[in-house]
Amino acid sequence: MALIRKGKQFKWHRKHLLGLRELSAEEITYILDTAEGFEQISTRSVKKAPPLRGKVVVNLFFEDSTRTRNSFALAANRLSADVIEFTQKSSSVSKGETLLDTAKNLEAMGIDIVVIRHSAGGVPKFLSRNVNASIVNAGDGYCEHPTQGLLDVYTIRKIKKSLEGLKIAIVGDIAHSRVARSDMWAMTKLGAIVYFVGPPTLMPSQVSQLPVKVSYSLDDVIEEVDVINMLRIQFERLGASSFPSIREYSHYFGLTVERMKRAKKDIIVMHPGPINRGLEIESEVADGSNSVILNQVTNGIAVRMAVLFLVNQAAAITD
Ligand code: CP
Repeated sequence: MALIRKGKQFKWHRKHLLGLRELSAEEITYILDTAEGFEQISTRSVKKAPPLRGKVVVNLFFEDSTRTRNSFALAANRLSADVIEFTQKSSSVSKGETLLDTAKNLEAMGIDIVVIRHSAGGVPKFLSRNVNASIVNAGDGYCEHPTQGLLDVYTIRKIKKSLEGLKIAIVGDIAHSRVARSDMWAMTKLGAIVYFVGPPTLMPSQVSQLPVKVSYSLDDVIEEVDVINMLRIQFERLGASSFPSIREYSHYFGLTVERMKRAKKDIIVMHPGPINRGLEIESEVADGSNSVILNQVTNGIAVRMAVLFLVNQAAAITD
């Protein structure tokens, strides 16, 4: 599939989706435009289209997931692919089989696309160099979660038409967040001004080298931002306490009804999920009229359909 943009024909050529850092604004826009084309399939009574008929997608998840895993499975199903669900607990990984042996054995069964989530950064890249299938990163360590970044910018673009010049705050546990990194790359490449907001203990060590503004006070930015993305406190990744108490964290960095009174009336409230209700966001805000949290989940299916479709198409050309 090729799009004509600004008089130039653009053709997707990436067999893998490993991260958004390496993508150009044109490539990101191309994925979003492709996702728009797929969105209406999910509203039909028969939610199926044939582009991946005869192809096999494996969901290779070494970490828990509700949204990403099911969204990829639905996306693959809607494109008529066969889907294999892999979980570490019920596999031979529990008997000591390595990641590479696991992937090579699955490949020997004829898989075409591996959707991989792993707690170690760099695993998707490693696989892309060692197996022939297309690799799609569904979250690796603290590094990237590219389809979350894509569905986030897709959701914003749908409401605001463009990200150019928008001010976007990403709030909370930035240090442990792959979502923050993928969001940052996608949002800044599409022209947004991104603020990382949180306590110094939850900022990445080299934050000054990233294309973001940094604020240690949510109150300093709440009135001026167009979009606010509240991150989950990742208790499973925190070592020694990074803030004095949950109550203190909520007081300074929680998105409360009181703080929302000072925000722009049309501010977009986002959260990648899962939510710690009452900690980073109050329930009334998460479920309120500015919240697009469930829209993000819905949009994720079309975005992942686009990604699976495009990497498969590129694989057919490059193999
Ligand atoms: N946003 C996200 O990655 O959620 P899951 O961990 O449920 O996939």
